[in-house]
Amino acid sequence: MSQIITPFTKKLGIRYPIVVAPMFLISNPDMLVAAGEAGCIGIMPSLNLRSAALFEEAVLEIKKRTAAPFGINLILLQNPRLEEDLAICRRHQVPLVVTSLGNPSEVIQAVHAYGGQVFCDVINLHHARKVKAAGADGLVAVSYGAGGHAGKIAAHVLVPWLKEATGLPVLASGSIATGVQIHAMLALGAAAAYMGTRFIATQESPADPAYKQSILDASPEDIILSPKVTGHDCNFLKPSLDRFEEGTDAGLKRWKDVWSAGQGVGLIDDIPTMDVLVKRLVAEFKQSLSLLSQS
Ligand SMILES: Cc1cc2nc3c(=O)[nH]c(=O)nc-3n(C[C@H](O)[C@H](O)[C@H](O)COP(=O)(O)O)c2cc1C
Repeated sequence: MSQIITPFTKKLGIRYPIVVAPMFLISNPDMLVAAGEAGCIGIMPSLNLRSAALFEEAVLEIKKRTAAPFGINLILLQNPRLEEDLAICRRHQVPLVVTSLGNPSEVIQAVHAYGGQVFCDVINLHHARKVKAAGADGLVAVSYGAGGHAGKIAAHVLVPWLKEATGLPVLASGSIATGVQIHAMLALGAAAAYMGTRFIATQESPADPAYKQSILDASPEDIILSPKVTGHDCNFLKPSLDRFEEGTDAGLKRWKDVWSAGQGVGLIDDIPTMDVLVKRLVAEFKQSLSLLSQS
């Protein structure tokens, strides 16, 4: 059986060190099931469901459709549903929880109590040390150029730096769209590649077809880091940010109509199924490995 083994894949029982990253208003059960069946692990923000009851239904649906592990992203700050959604993760023993913003101590305690893993989003060593002290099992290193709220440090520095300074497993987030890049991140010490934008342009993703096309059309220079939409630095596709800034359509909604993506857009030019994409990423990874070992 084809597999790429890292401490992360061993711990979660998955075949490939590829994470389909949580994306607000995009990640859904179809994507998590397809990721799991393809040998990776998918993560969904609990807030993608409009109520805790709908979130619990989604968790049950995923468990019914696949035996593969999956993850849930919990936002810690200003999230009135945190307690309820955490209780649902506990009740259904969600294998992997990723926290964003805020202090993860309570989540870590609750998830460890049933044997789950907690990884925490960080953009620098200060954050990383804090979540390590709180008992995190690993870090999501969000680098410069990532889709969503990006960090300020290049991935090829952030990943080895955080790994060396904390000793925790590090998932590399930001601009990864090909198997060669996954190989490069593993060579830098990452335990897995944490990929968002690449998976927006898949058949299973529910993103607007115009959003997917905009990703295919974009170059890395079309990704603009701006605090104007959410109040924090976030990467957006220039055409949709321009529409927002011009106020050409007063009804534009953040995230839904202003499209976030990372610099990896420059390496994305099709909309495959998740299964086809993962097989391609693995083939590219293996080719890159053999090319380097021949040189
Ligand atoms: C549209 C979009 C929405 C996102 N929403 C979330 C979110 O709700 N929670 C979160 O932790 N990260 C979120 N992210 C960040 C991703 O989980 C991941 O770190 C990022 O997409 C990796 O960079 P890449 O898109 O360049 O691959 C989002 C990213 C995108 C593109």
